[in-house]
Amino acid sequence: MHETVKDEAERKQVTVLFADVSGSMDLAEQEDPEEWRKIMQRFFSVLADTVTRFEGTVDKFTGDGIMAIFGAPVAHEDHARRACYAALQMLDDVAEYAAELRRAKGLNFSTRIGVNSGEVVAGAIGEGGGSYTAIGHTVGLAQRMEALAEPGKAYLTEHTAKLARGYLDLRDLGEFEIKGASRPVQVFELAGVGEARSRLDLARERGFSRFVGRERELARLEQALDRANAGEATAVGVVAEPGIGKSRLYLEFLERCRSEGVEVFQAQGQAHGKAIPFMPILQMLRSFFGIADNEPEQQAREKIAGRALLLDPAFAENLPLMFDFLGVPDPERPVPQISPEARQRSLAEVLCRLVGKPSRRKTLMLVFEDLHWVDEGSQAMLNGLIDGFGGTRTLVLFNYRPEYTPPWADSDCFEALELAPLRREDTRELLRDLAGEDPSLDGLDEPIHERTGGNPFFIEEIVRELAEAGYLEGERGAYRLARPIEDAGVPVTVQAVLAARIDRLDADAKQLLQVASVLGKEVGERSLAMAAGLGPEAMEAALRALVEGGFLYEAQLYPERLLAFRHPLTREVAYGTQLAEQRAATHTAAARALIELEGPERYDELSALIADHLRQGGETLEAARWSARAAHWSGHARPHDALRLWRQVMTLVAELPEDEETAALAVHSRLLQLQYAWRVGMNREEEGRLAAEAEEIALRRNDLHSRVLLRVATSVRPGLDHHADEWLAAVRETVELADRTGDRHLRAAVRSAGAYAYLCAGDFGGFEAALDELLELVGDDGSVGAGIILGSPIAWGLMGKGMVRREQGRYEEAEELFDRALRLTLEEDDPETASWVRSNQAGLLAIRGDIAGGLAVARRNCELTDRLGDVFSRSLALTNLGWVHLMAEENEAALEAMEEAERLYREEMGSGGEMEGWRAQMRARALLAVGRNAEALEAAEYSVRISRERGMLWNYPVALLNLARARAACGLGGVGEALAEATRIARQTGAVSLLGDIEKETEVLAPSL
Ligand SMILES: Nc1ncnc2c1ncn2[C@@H]1O[C@H](COP(=O)(O)OP(=O)(O)OP(=O)(O)O)[C@@H](O)[C@H]1O
Ligand SMILES: [Mg+2]
Repeated sequence: MHETVKDEAERKQVTVLFADVSGSMDLAEQEDPEEWRKIMQRFFSVLADTVTRFEGTVDKFTGDGIMAIFGAPVAHEDHARRACYAALQMLDDVAEYAAELRRAKGLNFSTRIGVNSGEVVAGAIGEGGGSYTAIGHTVGLAQRMEALAEPGKAYLTEHTAKLARGYLDLRDLGEFEIKGASRPVQVFELAGVGEARSRLDLARERGFSRFVGRERELARLEQALDRANAGEATAVGVVAEPGIGKSRLYLEFLERCRSEGVEVFQAQGQAHGKAIPFMPILQMLRSFFGIADNEPEQQAREKIAGRALLLDPAFAENLPLMFDFLGVPDPERPVPQISPEARQRSLAEVLCRLVGKPSRRKTLMLVFEDLHWVDEGSQAMLNGLIDGFGGTRTLVLFNYRPEYTPPWADSDCFEALELAPLRREDTRELLRDLAGEDPSLDGLDEPIHERTGGNPFFIEEIVRELAEAGYLEGERGAYRLARPIEDAGVPVTVQAVLAARIDRLDADAKQLLQVASVLGKEVGERSLAMAAGLGPEAMEAALRALVEGGFLYEAQLYPERLLAFRHPLTREVAYGTQLAEQRAATHTAAARALIELEGPERYDELSALIADHLRQGGETLEAARWSARAAHWSGHARPHDALRLWRQVMTLVAELPEDEETAALAVHSRLLQLQYAWRVGMNREEEGRLAAEAEEIALRRNDLHSRVLLRVATSVRPGLDHHADEWLAAVRETVELADRTGDRHLRAAVRSAGAYAYLCAGDFGGFEAALDELLELVGDDGSVGAGIILGSPIAWGLMGKGMVRREQGRYEEAEELFDRALRLTLEEDDPETASWVRSNQAGLLAIRGDIAGGLAVARRNCELTDRLGDVFSRSLALTNLGWVHLMAEENEAALEAMEEAERLYREEMGSGGEMEGWRAQMRARALLAVGRNAEALEAAEYSVRISRERGMLWNYPVALLNLARARAACGLGGVGEALAEATRIARQTGAVSLLGDIEKETEVLAPSL
């Protein structure tokens, strides 16, 4: 086991303690300075010794007191507890010395102590690596606690209380306004040692969570007990990382054993236990003789003698030694003077005889917990015990963490039992018990299992932390999710455990782990070595330590070794321990390693990662360039990612001075965000702001190209609710403007975007003319204008023409055009345009009688658009699915799909868009089909009204047809008028196929006319 003191500074979770002598100034005047110095020195050494005893670090002497840190340089998972124990000890020791001074010199001394826990930056701080110290707000607050404390008292903040509660007895003093703290701080007085000795005691106090899994391990323990019952003495060692459930497993097992009449005695190691020799043995003996904590000495001696002599009268000669060892020496029978070694030998022998009486009928069970903290003396005694207990009815249960190996590991009577993390289903059950079954919690068990690696302690703490931080609302066992948990931090209790494990690594391994944490969840060995700057041998050794220690595992061996974090929490903690500056340097090194080690053919897919490292490394311009590359690469296939990345480019560029390149990026990033706005949704205000900012830069820099694209984004694109005439005017103007740039790509892109306006206006001729112009401009070079506004202009042109053919009732031609369009989109890997083509294909198949085929295409299309995440395409696909359902006479399903489409679009876009009228008349039909006539009428009227108001003549006649149907169904008049108007407009636009529908409907509705 290594303990490293790094010479660089780190962020650490620690507890800071300040202690001083109150009133020392007045006191100093009463006393001769030399004498005074002696007193103060004695006082300091009392404090400093106590700090050292609990493995804290004396940070500095403050003139009339000290500052100490617990948990740094080497992290201790129980740093808060250690500080509290030290504080109690200091109060006692100082009081004792003060009493002495009062008696001898009439001086009045007392101490005040302040304690606080939290993050500090700790290390050798100052020029040329000054001495080790901690700085940060946490330190200041500890000092304030000291100033606040009454003489002879220790005050803690809520932060320490959170970690120490249960283990220590705390008195709540309420909230205090503290200078320098942004909100009132809850202050506690340290009143003494608490009831809880271990984490499990604490868990008991809070109410145990339901015990899950562990069937196999319990069975193994049962078998061991059977052997012991049969006189075959056995020792079992349960080994696992902290929090996996070693103690809980024993607790459950012991409960069963006790109910079967087995005698059980227990001892519990303590993290600071090495400081107290023989603690576990003493505990075991006290438990064996049934001595309570504050048992009067005489009574304790009686219990010891009574039990020992009953077992074997020969113990009489050992009684003085036993009394002395157990802290209740008999004044009448002093211990003979012997060497410490001889004393220890005799004690070990006594212990063996107590346990190992072959004639004993009842099985004896001894449980020693947390052997990794055992002191040497106790270890030696345990060795003696295991050597000598053969042939007795004894079961000895140990548990310990992986860093400890018991010396009797190879002994025949010993069995090691490795406790694995909880299985997925156990985690699920535990979470059900802790959090409940509210539907809002669905899907939470996966990420929590992943994050915690199935460690039940981490799971419990995370749930508690989520509840305390307001992510979960309600009561334990019956929570509701109040907001997503992605950004929830690591609970301090869990941090303490993990940080302590990390600090036990040697310097290289720890550094490697920190670098790995910066690089990612999963990292390639070569980039890791490069970023860490370790040579092959050091690298190999460090990696081995990390893999063996269970921090990393080999996720892949070939073609390159990939290392992954075993649980994400370790990564978060390793990441969090580094200073921002150090982390930034590692991020930059990681980006450079990726760029250097990977071939350019992988740059696209790595671009987001590289950009992210550069951004966090503070290389802003490079980060912006790589983000732009990543955004382009995500494109229409992953619109959400693309939007996020363009936003990132914008934010990065904002930090840089304006020049040619940054100005272009600034405009571009805004334009492209606007391109995604109509696809995935954005609030209007943000959209307006982006447009205004882009316009300002483009004008200032005389950038016509960008201004054209901006026009598209603000007045040509789909999703605006202006009148068709206005829309068309904007299209014409923008096309003209694009032509002025002479840029073929831009001209094609603008035409493809603008053509849609003609279709919506019901000007099929204009639509087709615009598409033909587009197709001619592009020729057979599919790259012209591609990906600027739409993915593949050619595919879109062919599809559009197909739509016109469909309106004209020329289905075969339409089908052929759709087929060609689809093939192109697949070749060009343009899932967005593909989804529009499929939407059209599905409907056409159904119109032509292939309902099953139509349904299959429509369903598949919905799945694909779901994955795409683009709201525009998804709502289109859903409405079309509804339409096909309607033709299949699956009316409820039809309505459901259409309502989902409507809800989705409105929710994400905040308005209905240009397809609002179309969706409304579809819904009207579906509502009619399920007999909700009044609602159908309302939807149809709405559709007619807005189509007329906005001049959307493609939809207007269809809306009228459905209005006629709805009126008829409601027994209202005006059916004939609606049909006549529909006919008139359909004739005007050339919607031949629709005319057929109207005619059919007229016959059906004849009776209501
Ligand atoms: N199988 C289980 N089902 C439900 N809860 C469990 C289970 N195992 C452990 N726990 C809970 O997880 C927490 C941690 O368990 P425990 O204290 O036994 O861990 P440990 O392995 O002894 O850790 P340490 O090494 O720190 O002593 C406890 O609150 C315990 O109740
Ligand atoms: Mg334990």
